[in-house]
Amino acid sequence: MTTAGDQEKLAVARAAATLVHDDMVVALGSGSTVALVARALGADRSRARFAVASLATATVATTVGLSLVDDASTDRYDLAIDGADEVDPDGWAIKGGGGAHTRERILIAAADRFVCAVDSSKLVDRLTRAVPLELQPFALASTLSRLPGAVLRDAPPTADGGVLADIEEDLSDPAAVAARLDATPGVVDHGLFSPQLVRELLIARGDDLEHRRR
Ligand code: 5RP
Repeated sequence: MTTAGDQEKLAVARAAATLVHDDMVVALGSGSTVALVARALGADRSRARFAVASLATATVATTVGLSLVDDASTDRYDLAIDGADEVDPDGWAIKGGGGAHTRERILIAAADRFVCAVDSSKLVDRLTRAVPLELQPFALASTLSRLPGAVLRDAPPTADGGVLADIEEDLSDPAAVAARLDATPGVVDHGLFSPQLVRELLIARGDDLEHRRR
């Protein structure tokens, strides 16, 4: 059965796909919204070239006929498209529900433009989810001792050998939490993405599409 949320996801994915032109090199993140973006691009026979943040996205992209670039030798992307788990009114986002946030941040940071594509369920008054973490497996116990409350995820290592965890935080000041996690040895990356990165939001709400730029 298709829910209203599924329909919003499909609508926002199709809208995001229209931003891709054949001469672009585009970064795609990870998750179900991005998979729908890839499918829409495949259906449009897009001739753009793509870098992908996860094996799951790579599998969908190649299955629908998209061309991939070598991320190791591509330094800039014209556009990055990705989803999010929560976005607050200031533009702070939590990403990493799928555990690909480290690679997603790398791709987004290398893109001239990032469009975050979300269905309306992702918009929240304040961030409440646990913050995803990717941790170095080396000396994991000492890293965890610096992260009281962090819970290891029952998930395989990331594509880069990282250990996934989630941590409940008071997110009334996301910048302070992000700075603390950035400064914690052993934390490869966390899922708090700042408004400086999340400048464009494409939102599907019912039958409406909103393109919010800051
Ligand atoms: C993966 C992500 C995804 O963008 C986020 O989890 C949203 O996923 P979905 O599009 O399936 O709702 O950050 O690391």
